[in-house]
Amino acid sequence: RRKSCHPHPPLCCASSPEGSVSKAPGPLRSSLRATSVSKSDVIPAGDITSTPIPEITDVFPELHTHEHIHQFSLDHPEEFWGQLARSRLEWQREFKTVTAHEPEKAIFRWFPDGQLNVSVNCVDRHARHHPDRVALLWEKDEPGQQEPITYRQLKDEMCRLANVLRASGVGKGDRVALYLPVSPLAVASMLACARIGAVHSVVFAGFSAEALASRIQDAGAETVITTDQAVRGGKVIQLKQVVDAAVAKCPSVRQVFVGTRTESQVKMGPKDIALDKALSCEGTECEPAVQDAEDLLFLLYTSGSTGSPKGVAHTSAGYLLYAATTHKHVFDYRDGDVFGCVADVGWITGHSYVVYGPLANGATTVLFESTPTYPNPGRYWETVARLGITHFYCAPTALRLLLRYEDDWVKRYDRSTLRVLGSVGEPLNHEAWHWFNDLVGEKRCTLVDTWWQTETGGIMISPRPSAPGAPVLPALPMRPMFGVKPVLCEPNGGVVEGMGVDGALCVGSVWPGIARTIYGDHKRYVDTYFSPYKGYYFSGDGAHRDQDGYYHITGRMDDVINVTGHRLGTAEVEDAMMEHPDVAEVAVVGFPHEVKGEGVFAFMILKDHTHESTEEIKNDLRKLVRSKIAGYAVPETFLICPGLPKTRSGKIMRRILRKVAANKPGELGDISTLADPTIVQSIIDAYNENR
Ligand code: WT7
Repeated sequence: RRKSCHPHPPLCCASSPEGSVSKAPGPLRSSLRATSVSKSDVIPAGDITSTPIPEITDVFPELHTHEHIHQFSLDHPEEFWGQLARSRLEWQREFKTVTAHEPEKAIFRWFPDGQLNVSVNCVDRHARHHPDRVALLWEKDEPGQQEPITYRQLKDEMCRLANVLRASGVGKGDRVALYLPVSPLAVASMLACARIGAVHSVVFAGFSAEALASRIQDAGAETVITTDQAVRGGKVIQLKQVVDAAVAKCPSVRQVFVGTRTESQVKMGPKDIALDKALSCEGTECEPAVQDAEDLLFLLYTSGSTGSPKGVAHTSAGYLLYAATTHKHVFDYRDGDVFGCVADVGWITGHSYVVYGPLANGATTVLFESTPTYPNPGRYWETVARLGITHFYCAPTALRLLLRYEDDWVKRYDRSTLRVLGSVGEPLNHEAWHWFNDLVGEKRCTLVDTWWQTETGGIMISPRPSAPGAPVLPALPMRPMFGVKPVLCEPNGGVVEGMGVDGALCVGSVWPGIARTIYGDHKRYVDTYFSPYKGYYFSGDGAHRDQDGYYHITGRMDDVINVTGHRLGTAEVEDAMMEHPDVAEVAVVGFPHEVKGEGVFAFMILKDHTHESTEEIKNDLRKLVRSKIAGYAVPETFLICPGLPKTRSGKIMRRILRKVAANKPGELGDISTLADPTIVQSIIDAYNENR
């Protein structure tokens, strides 16, 4: 259908001052070509003269400390969030109602009668006030090839892309799967979806074809956007080939837009559309769709303890407000800062703190395409020096990896621009905290250990904001954010009161960033988050409230493991392994891993007559897990055992396996309820023989 330019120009082109067709290649496309380096040596933040976002104490002058403001936000959520939503977002239609929740059905609505377009809030209003400010600072895989993209350029390219999508029949509510490298194209694609009311589902470009296919199918996406290849850590990744394999399994997909990252020749099939060419047919104006505050903005798939990954659904205004507010106040973001969150846009951290939070605040945000050790372990700090980064937000696993190298990899680079350091994804242990705070931050930056989740939309517990002069203690997230009321629960559902206590970490308030549902399965949403502890949102984590009332995260309480900061359901790995014809039974658990946080440990029983040697089987299993899920899910260890520890009703007792995998056979606890307690010793023997 799309042989040359589309047959009927999109409506928005009629109102375009430049006419409907602009043949000049936009900065986005040229910047997506690794070969055309428009290198800029000095990266200015650009025009920073607009009115800065007010401090929270300026918004609520009668409240003097963070504790007062926090309490006010819990006591008067409508007034608190209503005032922020009015002053910090640009509305197409002002809301009259702040909340209309139906908690008994787990239905939450923020600003339900208001209308706004997220892309206008993230781009147009800044392009209006400071068009030449750098919006995106693309730090490409090869050091020294950074490319700045201003708000004006971002607006033009986002609009072109939105026009391409609209002209191809993508409309309001349609799901679009994005399988892209960290790049301006990824950001423009997310925003282009928001512009026309489509719902993006970004799939981390490290996921396998099969994982991509299941996410496309679950979302019912008809459109996919990808690039020819990706480049990461000096290695080329064949993105388009992965998409081809995924799309072959997805009859719902009718078109695949293929952008350019390396200009390699990729095979184009009947559903494939060259994105550069399609973009060159479109103009740079695109009327934003009128969106209800509660219209879906995006889906993001995440692992649960059982079943297939869940499509966590976030809506427009509440999510954006929460991402923007936390970005401003947790990180103390100010105009002129260069915000460096090195997460991939395929995870929630990338959504909220690479894209939506910073752009809603008109910030300059870094897109980091590379890895912490490419071309050497100084990469992060060399990038900080070269780009003048003021905020550096990363994952503990990267810190634990880097601290094993010489301090000189840090010290040789100028880090004087840094002001705030942040960590997210897993517990930040003391050693990593001190390395980050003392060495990288020279003890003069604030370090925020931020706890939150895909489902929470934004940071929930973090040392900041806090009263001026309030302490920031090592290795704990400490204080709840505005609107967040942490509650610790006992297994029987009772609330644990007081200080110096432990419990299941729940939230007893409704904040604007909370995910609204699991796509297509509200029952699963209710069952997962609201059924375990009546009246509360359950995070799946355990926590400790210390004598000072500060929160420490003790880790997942369910069968989810956290590998390099990425959530992985043990059931997913087990399902993948069970496809092997020689495997009779498997149980997967996490175990403490020095760098990854947790590693994957697989216990398995083989069938009596296997077709292959055990080494061949293990190799097959590695390949299986890699192809069904992703590289990070591949178990470190496969242990062949004669049996698994089961209760009399047949349930595998994972807590025993966790102790074995952690090499703590002395801490097994009570094993008398097992159907066959002797099996435990044979598993320990197998473990010891294998070491
Ligand atoms: C799980 C959420 C939110 C962005 C990245 C991960 C763990 C997250 C911390 C922290 C201890 C943490 C929790 C949580 N987690 N931050 N600061 N301290 N644990 O998002 O994939 O949705 O995973 O990550 O276990 O439940 P996610």
